[in-house]
Amino acid sequence: MKPGSQVVVPPARTVHGVVRLPGDKSISHRYAMLAGVADGPSRLENYSTGADCASTLACMRALGVKWERKDNVVEIEGRDLSLAAPARPLDCGNSGSTMRMLSGIVAGQKFSSEMVGDESLSRRPMERVIKPLSAMGAQIASRDGRPPLRITGSALTAIDYKMPVASAQVKSCLLFAGLLADGETRVEEPLRTRDHGELALRAFGAQIERKGNETCIRGGQRLRGIEARIPGDISSAAFFLCAAALFPGSQLTIPNLLMNPTRARLLDIVTQMGLRISVTQLEEIHGELVGSLQVEGARLTGATIAGADSAALIDEIPVLAAIAPYTEQGIEVRDARELRVKESDRIAAVATNLRLMGAQVEERDDGLKIPGGQTLYGAELDSLGDHRIAMAFAVAALRADGETLIRGAEAAAISYPAFFSTLEEIAER
Ligand code: S3P
Repeated sequence: MKPGSQVVVPPARTVHGVVRLPGDKSISHRYAMLAGVADGPSRLENYSTGADCASTLACMRALGVKWERKDNVVEIEGRDLSLAAPARPLDCGNSGSTMRMLSGIVAGQKFSSEMVGDESLSRRPMERVIKPLSAMGAQIASRDGRPPLRITGSALTAIDYKMPVASAQVKSCLLFAGLLADGETRVEEPLRTRDHGELALRAFGAQIERKGNETCIRGGQRLRGIEARIPGDISSAAFFLCAAALFPGSQLTIPNLLMNPTRARLLDIVTQMGLRISVTQLEEIHGELVGSLQVEGARLTGATIAGADSAALIDEIPVLAAIAPYTEQGIEVRDARELRVKESDRIAAVATNLRLMGAQVEERDDGLKIPGGQTLYGAELDSLGDHRIAMAFAVAALRADGETLIRGAEAAAISYPAFFSTLEEIAER
């Protein structure tokens, strides 16, 4: 889809079929980065098709890492901890994950580099990685804590760091930097966030220790390349789970889905809201739990998302909120201020688009309160350049009265280029 694309989503009667998801975005980024600094080759199957993970690969190439991609299989030749000076700024595109996590690796190299991003990424806070990396001895100049980042490579020293914000990107950044640092780095998080960084480091052969919310890594460990099949992205599955939840009797099969417990809170919430889910073929691949889901729609009650759940569901809240008016009791989201500094201000984006569809919404500083039992009407909406907003409202449109037009629909390609065609395949009208 070209920039400025719009998609019209007519209402559906139900959804039915099989959804095969692209590889998980969080895992794809981490495997690509670690494969680049590992010893020997890695082969990654079902690598994310999203533009964000392509940004990570492009940055790795600019850092001297050789890789080849055939469809969704990526073969990467590792450079054993030392990367090459990039000839140009590292373009992270729209991807906060690329900038935040890769900054931990380039900060410990013997060269200087610059990391840049698109307009949305250039507004996002980077202080959360600049501060601890600087405490490790890194030299990073920024535009008031925002991109671009100018990083002068330095010898890093381990730190003990208590993260003020619950962020898996920051945790991974510091563990990756810790791998290059002298001594043992300890990172403590205020809440347990996704643990793909820890699992990926272990998969590549590093020793990591975890006690409660504290993770430790010893510097100087060498990584070994791996062969892996990346499980389907559960944050992308969220759109289809919510679509199924809209229609009693809907049926979906989702094979090869990531079910890592630090990401699977979504499954509990949609089950509490009425979706019936059964899981088969559970297996563990490189420490990541994977399963196949059978999903059936029933009644749709409400939910409250607060505290640790808000951090665990941070990427799924937009779609849960977008379907909230159709629930019986509505949905209340609290403690989710982080949503305001994602690819867009997602609290404002959800409130604006729901109101355009005729819903009553209470917008709060750290969340939303959306009453249930409402009717939504087809409307003209904007993605605000945010992939999850484009996809969330395509799902809300399925039960609206009338057609919904979504401007800036091409944003979906940031994490899920095939989203609209898959939605069309499963929607029955
Ligand atoms: C991610 C962590 C979350 C999430 C993002 C991916 C990751 O961001 O919103 O889409 O892969 O670690 P934060 O670390 O900012 O919470």
